[in-house]
Amino acid sequence: MDNYVMQVVCTFRSSSPSKMFINDSTSLDSDLRPEFFNLGYDLFLDRSTIKATFIPSDIFDDTSALFQHLPSKLNIINAASFFHFFDWGRQVAVTKQVVKLLRPVPGSLLTGRHSGNVQPGKREGSEL
Ligand SMILES: C[S@@+](CC[C@H](N)C(=O)[O-])C[C@H]1O[C@@H](n2cnc3c(N)ncnc32)[C@H](O)[C@@H]1O
Repeated sequence: MDNYVMQVVCTFRSSSPSKMFINDSTSLDSDLRPEFFNLGYDLFLDRSTIKATFIPSDIFDDTSALFQHLPSKLNIINAASFFHFFDWGRQVAVTKQVVKLLRPVPGSLLTGRHSGNVQPGKREGSEL
């Protein structure tokens, strides 16, 4: 059985599994906006060499391609610079969505990096 690694909300794939770890058909990337995938090809000059599969999808949409084809199928998911867009309730909601994609076995892994603050809450007037 293949081990699948996915970068959700990947944008240009700058920190995607296809760049960090592997470049084969088990590497998957997803984002809401498919035009970013094409910009990524231009940025990394890898249109002819990249073997990763790109799946445009809304992470909140259970009817999207991600949830139609990959529920409970992924071994490792990286989700970076995304959860901090939302308030606590939406962060919990998006985490549940991402976890639905993980294979429900010991060793499945969700990784990521996000901005935070010791003072919780929405930051009004912030540039971030
Ligand atoms: C800051 S970028 C992520 C950058 C990338 N993960 C990295 O670490 O370099 C946030 C991305 O989230 C995507 N996004 C926003 N809402 C989304 C949604 N509902 N479903 C999937 N992707 C979404 C945007 O299109 C954008 O590419």
